[in-house]
Amino acid sequence: MSKFNNQVVLITGASAGIGAALAQEFASQGANLVLLARRTEKLAAVAAAIDSTGEKVLTVACDVSKDGELEQAVNLARSKFSKIDIAIANAGWSLKGNLENLSLDDYRLQWETNVFGVLRTIYATLDDLKQTQGSLVIISSVKSYISLRGDSPYSSSKFALRALCESLSAELAPYGISVTHICPGYVATEIRQIDNQGNFHGDWQEHVSPKLLRSAKQTAQQIVQAIDRRQQEQVLTYYGKFVVLLKRHLPGLLSWLISRMEIKVVAK
Ligand SMILES: NC(=O)c1ccc[n+]([C@@H]2O[C@H](COP(=O)([O-])OP(=O)(O)OC[C@H]3O[C@@H](n4cnc5c(N)ncnc54)[C@H](OP(=O)(O)O)[C@@H]3O)[C@@H](O)[C@H]2O)c1
Repeated sequence: MSKFNNQVVLITGASAGIGAALAQEFASQGANLVLLARRTEKLAAVAAAIDSTGEKVLTVACDVSKDGELEQAVNLARSKFSKIDIAIANAGWSLKGNLENLSLDDYRLQWETNVFGVLRTIYATLDDLKQTQGSLVIISSVKSYISLRGDSPYSSSKFALRALCESLSAELAPYGISVTHICPGYVATEIRQIDNQGNFHGDWQEHVSPKLLRSAKQTAQQIVQAIDRRQQEQVLTYYGKFVVLLKRHLPGLLSWLISRMEIKVVAK
């Protein structure tokens, strides 16, 4: 029997992509699920594919960028399942552009979901995790280690999450709570079909090479493994691991490689 059988797992941003795949993976291991997102029809479809009876899944409409919504969702979770063992702050998106073409409000918009949304998730679930000596999981990115031109809103938000995880690992250890910082590389999801206002475009084509893309399912399986081991950090994909290795030990070489790659991109 899986360690996660009858554990309660709360996932933000569970209506699509990595969040939906995590829901499927935990469900296959017998977990009870609290699934949060703004698009309730998509959330309902994810839940129906997992458990049509609704006994093991609770879906709650929740915008992580809004004060109070996570507390409401967590209250509903407590009423249904009485506890939370694992909280996964996954909701996030990517706002792109050079600083000169963006405004302060653009950065606020990005950070309101990617950073403050994660903090809201932590504050709302902390008491429950203390009671269960559970796991806090932050879905960050390889971009918490590397920030390319035009990527400062997103990368700065993910750099902030890495710092948050580093502090919280030490701060929450005395309560028996593990903190896991997850750094995916490119995953085949909807993330690159969202514009800078947060709107979804079903007709936008994936521009990342298939060679670099992982499936959401495989990503979710690796994340669940890292949670099982209560790992402090998991960097996914071979090139993600390579980037982190260079950043730590040969940052000058990494900067040089990036500048070479960017020249090629411009020359294309
Ligand atoms: N895909 C990649 O290449 C990649 C790489 C590294 C890291 N990541 C990270 O992985 C996480 C999941 O992204 P994904 O790739 O699975 O993208 P996705 O397919 O676009 O899914 C994003 C999820 O986040 C939810 N979400 C966005 N804003 C929200 C908000 N304000 N409140 C509540 N939910 C919100 C969306 O649901 P609703 O729209 O229904 O609210 C959706 O369920 C993100 O943190 C992302 O930064 C992704």
